[in-house]
Formats: sequence, structure tokens, C-alpha cells
Amino acid sequence: MDRIRIVGGRKLEGNIQISGAKNAALPLMIAALLTEETLTLENTPSVADVGMLLRILSHHGVDYSVDGRRPGDQPHAARTLHLSARRIVDITAPYDLVSKMRASFWVIAPLLARMGEARVSLPGGCAIGTRPVDLLLMVLEKLGATIEIEAGYVHARAAKGLVGAEIDFPKVTVSGTHTALMAASLAKGHTLIKNAACEPEIADVAACLVKMGAKIKGAGQSVIEIEGVASLSGAHHTVLPDRIETGTYAMAVAMTGGDVLLEGAEPDLLRNALDVIGMAGAEISTNNLGIRVRRNGASLSPVDVTTAPFPGFPTDLQAQFMALMTKANGRSRITETIFENRFMHVQELARLGAHIRLDGDIAIVDGVAELQGAPVMATDLRASVSLVIAALAARGESIVNRVYHLDRGFEHLEKKLGGCGAVIERISGSN
Ligand code: UD1
Repeated sequence: MDRIRIVGGRKLEGNIQISGAKNAALPLMIAALLTEETLTLENTPSVADVGMLLRILSHHGVDYSVDGRRPGDQPHAARTLHLSARRIVDITAPYDLVSKMRASFWVIAPLLARMGEARVSLPGGCAIGTRPVDLLLMVLEKLGATIEIEAGYVHARAAKGLVGAEIDFPKVTVSGTHTALMAASLAKGHTLIKNAACEPEIADVAACLVKMGAKIKGAGQSVIEIEGVASLSGAHHTVLPDRIETGTYAMAVAMTGGDVLLEGAEPDLLRNALDVIGMAGAEISTNNLGIRVRRNGASLSPVDVTTAPFPGFPTDLQAQFMALMTKANGRSRITETIFENRFMHVQELARLGAHIRLDGDIAIVDGVAELQGAPVMATDLRASVSLVIAALAARGESIVNRVYHLDRGFEHLEKKLGGCGAVIERISGSN
């Protein structure tokens, strides 16, 4: 198992190219199941989750090709995927594939909408709470499917096709909204989605579906209207920049000090987080190349944050922000409202010398003057990168174990940080 070795204490200086958003790329790839024609996706990040989803999609019969890198391209140049689901050969998504990546459960919507039937294993994925799929199943039932759960599988059927309906989410859910968008695009008639998730990745997927011929209005807002169509066509779409990667590197710079241009980053995708990082003491400015983050000399101030659906502070930046606050000049409170059990990084940050106390869904962080390097263990995707951020600012050497969590969602992390002066290297190995 690979590990990452970091020697902390260096300021970050330079440029980091922001990749395409993993959380848009995954549902966009799944949307390829909706059409017989080819869907081309540009700016797809080269991360393990994308590779895993390609395996899952090919199991269903999707042919794919990945454009090679061209001479002169940067090593981090993103990939173009061509996905073609001309013939679906299997409507079952088996446990051994779905259990490796939770978002692959989402294939249930396009398979059902196009084939009238889908059999998908209940998911696994990140160890952050129970993460049910009840609202995804509610969506499919509202659209006319019958659902049976048998031996760990969800069997969804709609022999005569799905039919448009009103879907009112009792809670904001990204996965539920993606499911509703994909299924309703091929349902007969009109669908009204209320209390939809407003995350930018939803709007990005909807924009692609519209290019494919779907009739969708209001995506990116809490009420979405869809007029179903009989079939969808191929399209060409560019994945939007990754706001979580952007916020992560912005926090890394705020943590170590320095001056970094996050190239290709879009400030509108993370206003709330940028404001918070600014309040903590970093200078944030934007230009037509991206977002520049600087901190030179100023100490870090404590800031209280509460995670919330977009446009609020993202839960996917909570762990990284907690790492930043471990060196703030005072006490901050970080409240997690989206996922239970999303504080697994706390124990590991403590190994680096952080002072954090948990009180239910609130973490109370008392900033310390100095963190000290130590061996730590990555526990989930975002938690693991919070350990990297803390290690970059800690005195001495840290080893981050179980790096496969990081590889799921961060493209060339050590190259990007190393290019800005961090002492960071990957140690390949079996232990
Ligand atoms: C997506 C993101 C993830 C991010 C999360 C919240 C992807 C691949 N993943 O996850 O990185 O942290 O949004 O921004 O895009 N819920 C239910 N029943 C359901 C579905 C969800 O109760 O059927 C609950 C969840 O347990 C959670 C909340 O709703 O408490 C939000 O979950 P959701 O927005 O669906 O997250 P994901 O789409 O799984």
C-alpha cells in the first residue's frame, strides 16, 4: 500500500492547475448509459474513482476510449473520455463493483429509465455515517417503478417506462437530485422536483443532459422542471473545475503561508469557503487565470463554520478547514450537519499535536502554536487530505498511510504540492 512522506514547514509558492470535478465527472459518466450515442467528456480528472467507474460501466456494456496525452501537454493534463452505451448488456450492478464506490449505485436511474429494469447492489463507499439510499428509491417509486430489496440488491422495474411526477425531497440530497434528473429525463410527461440540491455539479450534469436533448429548467436552483423525452442523443461536454480541490489547496496555502495561483479555479463555485479562508487570515484575489491565495506573516484567526448544502460551507471541506484551525490563534467551532460520523480525522490530527474536543456534531478546536510530524492513517477521502494539509505545516516528518483514499479523488496531489515547494513524496510499498 502506498504511503506519502511529508516534511513540513515549507511555504507553498507557485501555480497549481485545478482538475475537473470528480463529483461532476462521475454522474456525467453515468449519464452515458442514457443514450445509444457517444458522450464525450473533456477535463475528466485522472483519479481512481473515474477508473473504477469505467470498469463498472464497461460491465454494463459501455465501450470507452481515453484520449492519450499529446506532446507538450502538462503531466496533469486532464483526459477526454468517449463513452458509448450503444447496447446495454447487463442491467445488474454487482456487489463486488458497487461496494467499492458508493456513487456507482446511481447507475440504477439510467438503467431503469432506458431498459425498464435494473438490479443494483446496495452500496459501500466512504466510511462516513450510514449514507442510506431511501430517497433515491423514493424518486424511482414516484416515477412509477416497483422496488424490491432482495439479498442485498435493489431490483427496480418499470416495464412500461417511467412516468413524470412531483418529487418533494424531505431533505436536500445530491444523489437524490442526480437520480431524479436522469430518470425524469426519459420518463413520460412532466416532473417537478422541489427542494432539489443546488450544488454546481447538479447544474453541470443538467447542462450536459440538455445538450443530449433533455428538457430541463431550473437546475442549480431548488425547483427543477423536466419534460421527459423518448430518447437522448450523444453530446460533447467539459467537466467543470473541482471546487473541493480548489478549496483544499487554498486551505493548504493558508496553512503553510506563501503565494499560490490556483489556475482554472472558479470563485463562484466556492464563495462561502473563500470568505471563510479570508476571515481566517489569507488574502484571496481572483483574476482571469484563477484564484490567488496568499498569506505572509499574518497569524491565523479562528472562524466558526457550519457545513450546509450549497451555497453554504461544503461538508467536503470540513476536515481540511479543521486542519487549518488547529493552528489558529484561539478557539473555533466546526459543526457538521450533513453527515454523521464525519470526524474520523480528529483522532489523527491529534496525533500531530492538535487540540480538538468533540461534542456531538460539533468539533471544538483550540489552536496550537506548532504541530509535530507523526505517522497518521487516512480514513476517508476528504479526511486524508486534511492530514496532508496539517503535515505540510507540522515540524518534521509525517507519513500518511492508506493513500488509496487520496487517490480516489485527488489528481497528482504530490506533484501539484511538490511543484510549489512542498517536501512530499510517494513511497510505493506493500506494508
Ligand atoms: C455527494 C458527494 C459528496 C458530498 C455530498 C454532500 C458525490 C459523488 N458525492 O454525496 O462528496 O459530501 O454530496 O455534498 O457527488 N441521504 C438520505 N437518504 C438518501 C440519500 C441521502 O438520508 O437516500 C442523506 C445522507 O445520508 C446525507 C444527506 O442526505 O446525510 C446528503 O447526502 P447526499 O447529498 O445525497 O450526498 P451524496 O450524493 O451521497
